[in-house]
Amino acid sequence: MGLPELTVEEMGVPTADNPGLKRCAELARTPVGNYHYGELKIALDPASPSHYLPVVPAGAKVLDIGCGAGQTLIAACPYRVPGEGGLCLPCSRNDCPEWGYGVDIDEEALALGRAWSRRMVFSLGSADRLPYNDQEFDLVISRVALPYVDMQRAIAEIRRVLRPGGRIWIALHPFRTIFLHWRQRNWKGWCFAGYVALNGLFFHLTLRTFCLLYRREYWQSESATRRVLTKAGFVNIQREPGPPNRLSISAELPESVPGAVR
Ligand SMILES: C[S@@+](CC[C@H](N)C(=O)[O-])C[C@H]1O[C@@H](n2cnc3c(N)ncnc32)[C@H](O)[C@@H]1O
Repeated sequence: MGLPELTVEEMGVPTADNPGLKRCAELARTPVGNYHYGELKIALDPASPSHYLPVVPAGAKVLDIGCGAGQTLIAACPYRVPGEGGLCLPCSRNDCPEWGYGVDIDEEALALGRAWSRRMVFSLGSADRLPYNDQEFDLVISRVALPYVDMQRAIAEIRRVLRPGGRIWIALHPFRTIFLHWRQRNWKGWCFAGYVALNGLFFHLTLRTFCLLYRREYWQSESATRRVLTKAGFVNIQREPGPPNRLSISAELPESVPGAVR
């Protein structure tokens, strides 16, 4: 993700509640690791202005798409007891069920996730072709990964792997995130910001997006996202609380899904 490599000290010290964070930081000494460790710290810190997480009910089988190193799964775990010595590094429990599955296209991030957690199950795969069976999951979450994929294909795949009555929670990029590219203050950043802006507008109007040099990125309007979800058969679509630079939406499948594979 193009970030400078930080030392363990610069990454921050573990808190009294989460001594296992120190070991997480030690294992995250690469640019990709830095990014995911930074997000893990935010995810574990409810006081952070950037903190927002899905609510994961105990007993649910959950898939995180674009999971990175599993930071959202680790932080949202309903069984987590902050501490050390457990199946996940910032946790002291060894008796929790296997409930969390993560998929990402980045093998380096997944390797870090496997080092942080012996409980989550990480797989290499893409959001538009999920390596899971039909109706496997009770809840599918995706925190800022869908802005990089074809939304209609990803939502169709999510619908396929969710059981009837299952829920989806996604965090997206609203329009204002294009200014992150703009702030790079070089012509490449400005061109890319222009592409992201136009692609998001195209998505808003047509629900489709296009790639630029094999890379896809766009901003998501709430109304276009609602239309994609409705088209795929989701109901009870709701805007969830989150920081202003994120658009979080939840929805559910009806108990009986017309056309669902049985
Ligand atoms: C901004 S990071 C978010 C990571 C993590 N969900 C979080 O909230 O910190 C976006 C993630 O999406 C992943 N990603 C990008 N394209 C993907 C695709 N087609 N399928 C699955 N994951 C993808 C990236 O590798 C990266 O880990």
